[in-house]
Amino acid sequence: MLSLWETFLSEKIVTFMREMLPERPSLFAEIEKECMRDYVPLIEPEVGQLLQVLLGIKQAKKILEIGTGIGYSTLWMALAPDRTDRHITTVEIEPERHQRACYYFKEAGIDSLVTPLLGDARKLISKLEGSFDFVFMDAAKGQYLNFFSKVWPLLEPGGVLVIDNILLNGWVIDMYWPERRKKTMVCRLRQLIEMLKNHSGLSTTILPLGDGVSISVRKIE
Ligand SMILES: C[S@@+](CC[C@H](N)C(=O)[O-])C[C@H]1O[C@@H](n2cnc3c(N)ncnc32)[C@H](O)[C@@H]1O
Repeated sequence: MLSLWETFLSEKIVTFMREMLPERPSLFAEIEKECMRDYVPLIEPEVGQLLQVLLGIKQAKKILEIGTGIGYSTLWMALAPDRTDRHITTVEIEPERHQRACYYFKEAGIDSLVTPLLGDARKLISKLEGSFDFVFMDAAKGQYLNFFSKVWPLLEPGGVLVIDNILLNGWVIDMYWPERRKKTMVCRLRQLIEMLKNHSGLSTTILPLGDGVSISVRKIE
């Protein structure tokens, strides 16, 4: 399926923008291939590049990722330039994916920078110790509001929250759901966007990149 970005922008622009991305290590291509073969969802490379840029701007050190998949987005963040003292805690609910991610973290030589946790983020997040200055959410879209309520107490003032698939193929814009079983997900994402917009402790923007990405910063009171 075409990503939202590809449906809104001409193929020419998308191709050009992707050509402008810096060359990435060959391991990235290997993971992309595996994801394609096994139907594992993953971020678009341009979203990976966005994460690297945001990490550079924020100079984030303590990162929480919800939705490891097989480690593609974690790798993008771990290999972002500039910082060597960055640490990523990443949560995945599916044991097989968690295992593949651990394998790739070793292959990439980043296993000391990452704490991969296996389990349901809805239960695990509240048990985490310390705080985070950067959170990337890319898991079950219908659970984002639930994840947010758990993440909020852990997000430092000035901390950044990035959420992927916020526009969900554009369905949240006109509240269209192609199948009945997608209705809850679309409605919950719309609620999430409203919540982000009205949250007095956050400043948020949405980029029509990939499947739609929201970027919020926690205000410093
Ligand atoms: C879109 S994929 C993540 C892709 C990954 N961020 C990447 O780009 O490489 C979403 C992942 O979230 C996981 N997931 C869904 N619900 C979860 C939950 N409640 N707790 C932890 N992980 C969850 C899924 O198993 C899936 O692997």
